[in-house]
Amino acid sequence: MPRAPPRASVIWPIHAVAAGAYGVAMATEDGQARPARDDTATLDDGGRTVQPAPPSEVDAAASPSSTAVGAAALRAAHLIVDQAPPILDDQVSIRLLEPGAAGTIESGRERLTDPHTRALRCGIVVRSRFAEDRLASSVQRDGVRQFLLLGAGLDTFAYRQPRWAHQIRIFEVDLPASQADERRRLARAGIVAPPNLTYVAADFASSDLVDRLATAGFDRRKPAFAASLGVLIYLTDATVDRLLDAVSSFAAGTRFVFSFTRPAVGQVATPPRGRLAARAAELGEPWQSFMEPAAVEDRLRRRGFRLVTFAFPEDVTREYLIGRTDGLFLSPRSILADAIL
Ligand SMILES: C[S@@+](CC[C@H](N)C(=O)[O-])C[C@H]1O[C@@H](n2cnc3c(N)ncnc32)[C@H](O)[C@@H]1O
Repeated sequence: MPRAPPRASVIWPIHAVAAGAYGVAMATEDGQARPARDDTATLDDGGRTVQPAPPSEVDAAASPSSTAVGAAALRAAHLIVDQAPPILDDQVSIRLLEPGAAGTIESGRERLTDPHTRALRCGIVVRSRFAEDRLASSVQRDGVRQFLLLGAGLDTFAYRQPRWAHQIRIFEVDLPASQADERRRLARAGIVAPPNLTYVAADFASSDLVDRLATAGFDRRKPAFAASLGVLIYLTDATVDRLLDAVSSFAAGTRFVFSFTRPAVGQVATPPRGRLAARAAELGEPWQSFMEPAAVEDRLRRRGFRLVTFAFPEDVTREYLIGRTDGLFLSPRSILADAIL
């Protein structure tokens, strides 16, 4: 689906990190005004494969994701405003933001600790920690050697990867414009892509993901660990199906960790109506899919996933939040799925 036209101004980052105060929070991602379009940047790919997308796809999603930037801002803010030890020790995100970001976050402390923004930030850092912990066990215990970040945004795992990850191949998949934005930010920060990282530009709505990955060197005969964090809510139901179809065509043993959002009580329409939905749409990344766990499980099992578990907010709270005194908490509608083929 074509995105809303890009806006010219960049309001960063407190507008984004305090999105809760504007109502785009609790159950979903934050947002901010879109950066001005910049399709001209070309970056050295450091010898790694970059899959060019057909022009129609580039046109359909020509603006980089602003929610990806918002998520990075909140990961950075977590290290500044929340209690140590961090849930996610991501020292790279701050470097991908605009110069002066740390000061802006510091001076926005009050807004960053309002309940909506806390829940939003908590959901964002917890989902990455959740995925990375499970990736570690899949690699170290089960011998998985391929990691797919589906809708990677400004995910920083590849740039701060621990030693055990050096033996795996990492594939960051995202829309061409979002990926170009990430690479521009990396270049500005002087961060060099590690040798085990491959960028794959794809639109889940229209690209043949399996084919794109194969061309980039992904071996679908071998199990992979795939993560899609904060992404499904932005995809239509049909695109979620396409994504699930693609992942379910991978080798037995493939594990898929993703986040999704339950509908609000009484919500019958998808996409949802109302002020919050209108705000998300205005940001150019409308909410598209809300799912109940039972329906997600059904969709996964029909595609051959054998083991399907969900981490509900109470489970995630027990695992990561007990003992913290910084007031971080999770939206009751944010769920993490962990499914194995
Ligand atoms: C909220 S960001 C999350 C980024 C990252 N996973 C994180 O946790 O910070 C959503 C990401 O999904 C990507 N995305 C949205 N629709 C997509 C599509 N149709 N195909 C590929 N990527 C998409 C966006 O470009 C963006 O990077």
